[in-house]
Amino acid sequence: MTAMDDASARERANLGRPDFDTLRKRAFNLRWATVDSDVIPLTAADPDFPAPAAAVTAIAEYLRAPHLCYGPAAGLPEFRSAVGAHYRANKSATGVSGKHVIATNSAASALALIARHLVQPGDEVVVQDPVDFLVAETARRAGATLRYWQTVDGRFTLDGLAAAVTPATRLLSVCHPHNPLGSLWDQAEVVAITNYCCERGISLLADEVWSDVVLDGAPFFSFASRENGKHAPWVVYGLSKGYGLAGLRIGAIIAPSEEEAERLCATAGFDQTIEGAATLSQIAATGALTHGASWLEEFLRHCAAQRDMAIARLSALRGVRIGHKPSATFVLFLDIRGTGLDEGEAARRIEQHARVRVVSGSPRWFGASAKGHVRISLATTRDVLDEALSRIERAWPQITHGCDRRPDSLQDP
Ligand SMILES: Cc1ncc(COP(=O)(O)O)c(C=O)c1O
Repeated sequence: MTAMDDASARERANLGRPDFDTLRKRAFNLRWATVDSDVIPLTAADPDFPAPAAAVTAIAEYLRAPHLCYGPAAGLPEFRSAVGAHYRANKSATGVSGKHVIATNSAASALALIARHLVQPGDEVVVQDPVDFLVAETARRAGATLRYWQTVDGRFTLDGLAAAVTPATRLLSVCHPHNPLGSLWDQAEVVAITNYCCERGISLLADEVWSDVVLDGAPFFSFASRENGKHAPWVVYGLSKGYGLAGLRIGAIIAPSEEEAERLCATAGFDQTIEGAATLSQIAATGALTHGASWLEEFLRHCAAQRDMAIARLSALRGVRIGHKPSATFVLFLDIRGTGLDEGEAARRIEQHARVRVVSGSPRWFGASAKGHVRISLATTRDVLDEALSRIERAWPQITHGCDRRPDSLQDP
């Protein structure tokens, strides 16, 4: 058996085989159901693999008694405890318990709820640039005036943060692990960022929806850890990335304290059934968190192998540069400035000539400094990624035809 056969056999055994006919009907948000039938969408971060058996079984068992009643306002106790236990066991989040957890209808909505809870119209909020649009958009919708934390040599450093913060800064909202850069802070950095905010009275919100997708066995240190400085930040978690449950719209808030959790539940309307997460989604998520470890392990091995193959092949293309090897996420952020194409034209030509759709690094998706980049998702099968990369490799001369490369001095970020 070759290494490739071995990998495919494991993928079938644990991850399951995607049913692409079904995906073409069900996978929206820039994916299979939204593209021409000959296009491969390496777009939104939503894995192609069927849901973990642990989640499916949990739903089936729950439905044996088909009473679909209202659940508790802040979420089912088993879901809240499972998130707390998952954080303590896998994210160094000492001291987090189910009482800090609120079940939400997606990570995206959790971000919006917290932003509305903390931000008054006109307040200054610092967000990273680049970053997934949801982090900035949820603050903007709460009325924030945004300021941007820029990278230094591809990393978000404390000096960069200090350059963005002003005396009027009320909130720092970060994405950790980072989409689209795939970067990760270590414990010392998480503590330093938390203390920096704490000392200046700046609230801190960490979007940790990607925290299950940490590759190569690297440790993840959560902002939710109670060892982390004097005042715990607000943390957002979700199961759309690591467990592939995007359609269930299930996420969670981990509040700084039980009292803060109760206050948010009251002000956001959880107590009046205005907010809340579907019980079936919480049941599936609890199943995945308590019995889905082997699925996740296999998925992470697969993502790391996909990353390595994609980096090797894409960085060999003329004008493409990949700054840092991602230590987390299943996306790659390609610097295509060396081709002379802008991000929108590059994405358009890749679809036209290679029949692969990628996400353009437009300010709308990732912020102003994403210009000159495109993002691809790797969370599909080895065969599909291989085919997509082969198409891009074959079409690259056509894609870049007629472009003037910029001088080298303009190519470094
Ligand atoms: C950084 C970040 N936050 C939030 C979300 C939204 O996650 P969900 O669909 O679980 O709400 C995404 C999805 O891609 C994301 O990348």
